[in-house]
Amino acid sequence: MAIRNIVKEGDEVLRKVSKPVVRFDEKLWTLLDDMAQTMHEANGVGLAAPQVGILRRVVVIDVGEGVIELINPQVISSAGENVGTEGCLSIPGEWGIVARPEKAAVKAQDRDGNEIVVEGEGLLARALCHEIDHLEGKLFRDIAQRMLSAEELEQLEEQGSEE
Ligand code: NI
Repeated sequence: MAIRNIVKEGDEVLRKVSKPVVRFDEKLWTLLDDMAQTMHEANGVGLAAPQVGILRRVVVIDVGEGVIELINPQVISSAGENVGTEGCLSIPGEWGIVARPEKAAVKAQDRDGNEIVVEGEGLLARALCHEIDHLEGKLFRDIAQRMLSAEELEQLEEQGSEE
């Protein structure tokens, strides 16, 4: 496994639409392993392949319950609303207030190509939506109700996580 460089906002790769994965091979597995290690090392709760410069529909998430790997993920249902703070490993040091569904269900494939469904509430629902947005070239700043002020950031310093 290897830590990959996380692309920062301003790099065009973050604004492109990622392509579906068609080969579930060792190259994909290496990418997944590297992405999980990179996410953990950066203390993030999620990472999408474009954030390491790869325009493929691959996401890893870990909200503290183990790594979830999602290949070609699609939101198939969502419910409710959760307005909360959100960050991104590609936008370091900035946070915003973003409305996301309280619950979301995602259909995807696992690393072997088998179809899976992942259902999440709260932070997991937020992470699922945030990472899938990355695959469409969208960043949380685009939909944030507002970004947090310097004072609010200071209060947040000891908590929270980035996606
Ligand atoms: Ni992000």
